[in-house]
Amino acid sequence: MASVTFESATRVFSGASKPAVDSLNLQIEDGECVVLVGPSGCGKSTSLRMVAGLEPTTSGRVLIGDKDMTGVRPRSRDVAMVFQSYALYPNMTVAQNMAFALENMKVSKSEIKERVQWAASMLELDELLERKPSALSGGQRQRVA
Ligand SMILES: Nc1ncnc2c1ncn2[C@@H]1O[C@H](COP(=O)(O)OP(=O)(O)OP(=O)(O)O)[C@@H](O)[C@H]1O
Ligand SMILES: [Mg+2]
Repeated sequence: MASVTFESATRVFSGASKPAVDSLNLQIEDGECVVLVGPSGCGKSTSLRMVAGLEPTTSGRVLIGDKDMTGVRPRSRDVAMVFQSYALYPNMTVAQNMAFALENMKVSKSEIKERVQWAASMLELDELLERKPSALSGGQRQRVA
């Protein structure tokens, strides 16, 4: 892992009268667990999306470790994100959804099987591996994601 630093990070959506995130300053240390709490629409998801690179900073910057992430593409940031809406493939089983990123990384079949089993066990999804996302509860879907 690495530290994450917001330095006056601001995001103004085009056409908006005020920023969705307004000069956020926050330092999160390596290994620290942080929870953002606030009313709906206050900018929590937008802040996370700025770390992942899915939302550009209008001004200010986000650093991962001591590296300025401005202009760095999402795929080059090595950030994992569980989206608020689950972003699962509806046509794939739980096991296939969990394996998908590893398949794209060309991890071997045997290692994928082992890692999916390990994660499923930790998340109490063992019994659900052959189900499709439509047959899961909201919390189960979020754990698959
Ligand atoms: N793509 C977008 N275009 C324009 N405005 C947006 C966009 N995404 C979010 N917003 C606005 O930015 C503000 C912050 O949204 P954000 O999704 O960060 O809120 P949130 O704190 O995650 O809320 P919730 O608790 O409901 O998930 C809201 O006013 C929202 O309407
Ligand atoms: Mg949100």
